[in-house]
Amino acid sequence: MIKIDANRARTFFSDDEFSSALNKAKLAFEDVVKATGQGSNWLGWRRILNEPNDAELEQISRHAYSIREDADLFIICGIGGSFTGAKAIIDALNPVFKPNGPEIIYAGHHMSGQYLEQLMDYLKTPKADGELKSVYLNVISKSGSTLETALAFRTIRTWMHEVYGNDAVKRIIATTGQSGGVLNDIIKSEGYTKYIIPEDIGGRFSVLTPVGLLPVAVAGIDIQTLYYGAVSEFEKNEETPDTILEYSAVRYSLHKKGYALDVLGSFEPALMGFAAWTQQLLGESEGKEGKGLFPATASYSTDLHSFGQMIQQGQRNLIETLFVIEKPLSGHKVATMKDNTDQLSYLEGKTFHEINQSAQEGTIQAHHEGGVPVIKIIIEKLNEQQLGRLIYFYELMTAVYVYMLGVNPFNQPGVENYKKAMYRLLGKEE
Ligand code: PA5
Repeated sequence: MIKIDANRARTFFSDDEFSSALNKAKLAFEDVVKATGQGSNWLGWRRILNEPNDAELEQISRHAYSIREDADLFIICGIGGSFTGAKAIIDALNPVFKPNGPEIIYAGHHMSGQYLEQLMDYLKTPKADGELKSVYLNVISKSGSTLETALAFRTIRTWMHEVYGNDAVKRIIATTGQSGGVLNDIIKSEGYTKYIIPEDIGGRFSVLTPVGLLPVAVAGIDIQTLYYGAVSEFEKNEETPDTILEYSAVRYSLHKKGYALDVLGSFEPALMGFAAWTQQLLGESEGKEGKGLFPATASYSTDLHSFGQMIQQGQRNLIETLFVIEKPLSGHKVATMKDNTDQLSYLEGKTFHEINQSAQEGTIQAHHEGGVPVIKIIIEKLNEQQLGRLIYFYELMTAVYVYMLGVNPFNQPGVENYKKAMYRLLGKEE
């Protein structure tokens, strides 16, 4: 179960304001469920949980297993919704220092020549035993034409064809729309394995399709449990959407009061990829027609020694959302020492979880007293099942809340503006 604690946000608006927002949230929820809102042909992220495709899950797991057996390196090549979901799950569930399987590398998420040059050098560097690295590449692009992704894909696949010869074809996997787009032409002419992104699912809502599932399975994560966690959350909310309605109404009430920023943070660094995923999901969905809360991310307690100062005493236009895990991720304790030269003996025997919890509660108190509405989103444990639940929870909340703002959550017309200007400068023919 996902829980919300909005007590430290509810003090910033009246009960009447909240109950009117709650009524609005109920109507927005109906629009999602009955597919009567704007962009209702983009609700496939609900359809796939209502009718789980077990055969596809099984096939992806088998394919991922065979890649894990052979790969030293797996490259996820995509941008925006085509990579943030996989990264969120991998960062949350995989060990930081000892990868559980092939090393996962990201490409195609920006256009830095330096990054790509260093990446190519790394691919070319032999292993300690002098052997060539075994590299697999998953290019992910719904449109099949995004420049950042296409450029990295061209660079990496050219090298792979040179070094692996005919074997390159089995090492390159493409995830894209059913038809259309340059990527589909390339797949056809080269014979790469293809995974389809359903037409009715947009990039940032696509993590539970092959977009996220294949890379996550290659990283050794149990995608069946992840997926069915999301299915449980879907089923729960079809019956009792109270938590979603409360959260949407709180966020909407704060937006209406004039708050402009939402700092999405956690005291658990493993959840920073998830914070980046919600940042992308919310930002591209709500930031239209002069509306929306700007989503920023914060890693605590690191950032308390940085823009934490601004959260505490800067302009009073921000709210804070904290992702909280109830059960400790580790029982690691503060070591005992014979002397007390570092004056930390008062913490001896305490777990780092307990200390981090105190830091979290102290921060919430201080921020609230400093005029910041704080919302806690709570999961019990950090595992596949809970993460699956949290993913659908945020997808649904985003749709409901953005409908409350009166805008279409599923398009991103503003993204075209930078592309047009860039292509003009690059001399691309219309
Ligand atoms: O949510 C979205 O639709 C976007 O963030 C896209 O995922 C992003 O622009 C990448 O697009 P594509 O998958 O077509 O390369």
